[in-house]
Amino acid sequence: MSGECASGRAKVRARDIVGAKGSRRLVMVTAYDYPSALAVDRAGVDMILVGDSLGMVVLGLDSTLQVTLEDMVRHTSAVARARPCALLVADMPFMSYEPSVSRAVESAGVLVRAGAEAVKLEGGSEYADRIRAIVNAGIPVVGHIGLTPQRMHRLSGYRRQGKTEEEVKRLLEDARSVEEAGAIALVIEYTKADAAKRITEEVGIPTICIGSGPHCDGQVLVLHDIIGFSTFTPPFAKRYADVFNVIVEAVSRFTSEVRRGVFPEPHHYK
Ligand code: KIV
Repeated sequence: MSGECASGRAKVRARDIVGAKGSRRLVMVTAYDYPSALAVDRAGVDMILVGDSLGMVVLGLDSTLQVTLEDMVRHTSAVARARPCALLVADMPFMSYEPSVSRAVESAGVLVRAGAEAVKLEGGSEYADRIRAIVNAGIPVVGHIGLTPQRMHRLSGYRRQGKTEEEVKRLLEDARSVEEAGAIALVIEYTKADAAKRITEEVGIPTICIGSGPHCDGQVLVLHDIIGFSTFTPPFAKRYADVFNVIVEAVSRFTSEVRRGVFPEPHHYK
C-alpha cells in the first residue's frame, strides 16, 4: 500500500488528466460513499466523481436541484476517507456558484476542505468567470456542458443537446470558454455524437463523455448504472452487473434463515 493513496498505484493528479489528451482514454466513475469509493478506486479509474446525481441515485430525490452543499460535503468526505488514488472530483451543487464569483470560490473551498482535489460545475461561457476565479484560488475545475441537469427547467427537460448547427455552435463556444478559463477537462453530457466529436477536436483539454458517443477523450458513467443498482438506467448506460438482485437474494436468504431458526449458527455466537 502506498502512503499517499490506498489502492497502491500512482496517485492521479490534475496534470495527469490534462496530459492524457491524445495519448490514452480517461475513465471517470461516480462514488458517493466510503466502500464504493474503495471498490471504484481498486478498479483503476482515473477520476472518482462525487456527482450531485447522488440526489437521485442514493437520496431518492426527483432531480439534482435539491442537493445542497452540505450533502456534497458529507459524501465528498466519505469518499475522501477511502484515500483514492484516482483524482477526487466533487460536483458543485445548484446555487453554490451561480449567485456570484465569490460564492463560487467559497463553495469550491468548502469542497476542497472536505477532501475534493478538483470541482466540477455545470455551464459554459456564462460561468467562465466562476471557473477562472476558482482556478486562480488554486483549485482544479472540470467543466460540464451539453445536458446540464441543474438547468433542466431552462432546457425544458432531459433532452439530447447539439441537434442543430446553432446548438453545436453554442456548445463549441461554451467549450472554448471553459478551456480558456483554465478547466482541466470537460464533461459533455447527452449531445449528438458528432457535436461531441467536433468539441473534442476543437479543445486542448480532455473531453469526458456521458451519452455523447465514442469520439471523446474519455467516458463517465454513474456507478449505480454500471452495477445495476439504480431504479432508472438511462439508455446510454451499460449494466455490467445486477447488484440489486444480488442484495434481494442475499437478504431473502437471511430473512428465511432467521424465520426458520437456521441463523445464527453456533459459530456466530460461541
Ligand atoms: O452528477 C453526476 O453524476 C454527473 C455525471 C453524470 C457526469 O454530473
